[in-house]
Amino acid sequence: MAADVKKIGVIGAGQMGGGIAQVGATSGLEAVVYDAHPASLDKARALHEKLLNRAVEKERMTREEADAALGRISYAKSLDDLAGSDWIVEAIIEDAQIKKDLFARLAGMFTDTSVVLATNTSSISITEIATAAGDDASQARIVGMHFFNPVPIMKLVEVIPGLATSDEVVARTTALAEAMGKTPLRANDRAGFVSNRVLMPMINEAFYAWMEGVAEPEAIDGIMKLGCNFPMGPLRLADFIGLDTCEHIMNVLADGLNNDRYRACPKLKQLVTAGRLGDKTGRGVFDYSK
Ligand code: CAA
Repeated sequence: MAADVKKIGVIGAGQMGGGIAQVGATSGLEAVVYDAHPASLDKARALHEKLLNRAVEKERMTREEADAALGRISYAKSLDDLAGSDWIVEAIIEDAQIKKDLFARLAGMFTDTSVVLATNTSSISITEIATAAGDDASQARIVGMHFFNPVPIMKLVEVIPGLATSDEVVARTTALAEAMGKTPLRANDRAGFVSNRVLMPMINEAFYAWMEGVAEPEAIDGIMKLGCNFPMGPLRLADFIGLDTCEHIMNVLADGLNNDRYRACPKLKQLVTAGRLGDKTGRGVFDYSK
């Protein structure tokens, strides 16, 4: 356990935030998860109960351990309920301005600068988000702490310092990720970091292969699963991540790396325009309604 962290505050109860709170609680931390939408909190609570019950059934933990972990998670309807947290992880919508507004607010709320303000952004510049917090000293505690979906299963945490992030905060982030049972690996603050710099162009290329008639989605995914040992094909994975998120990350890559070869494939954009965003809307490349 990272001795200095006892309570994490997670902002956003979606797939990522809910997963981060769960992993925090199963690692022995108090976790308070905040969301502006009560329905998201209810959904997160139901998923936590389901996954921990399953862990008991599978004998990965005892009933007592599961109940204790569930008891360490609280669900907050107000940001003020995060008071007392000694670590914050933001996992809200991928919108630079909304994140900057939030970090400005967090910097004002948590005046004790030993409280680290981490962002789970998948591609937005940590340095840009940190500018909202004020001077260099205030920005020193802002760090990228990028988890992967599904958080309880995926081992990686990408640790990304911004320009002003202190070495101490990077070391504490690494220690906390390890205490949460993850493997932290460091990346620099360039668009997409490492994970999405490499993953998203591959997914985008799968959309081009589909659009150009190289193969149908089932064949594209089957070829990558059977031929490259991917657990999910790239198009299935795009639905899982969310097609709007994929498009957004491609835009961040194209703008941040100043290279149009990273622009989102028209086929991907078309599905987003049609509201077919993947698992979360029941339909994306594939249809999940049945
Ligand atoms: N939350 C928690 N646990 C989950 C889960 C979820 N959302 N989805 C599946 N699992 C669990 C299942 O319960 C199951 O556990 P049990 O041992 O208790 O049965 C286990 O994972 C395996 O699940 P399945 O047998 O149903 O299916 P699977 O073997 O195909 O595994 C998977 C599912 C783990 C999701 C696997 O397909 C996989 O690894 N896919 C790739 C995921 C990936 O690449 N994630 C990264 C996305 S990129 C990202 O997150 C960052 C970004 O910035 C965009």
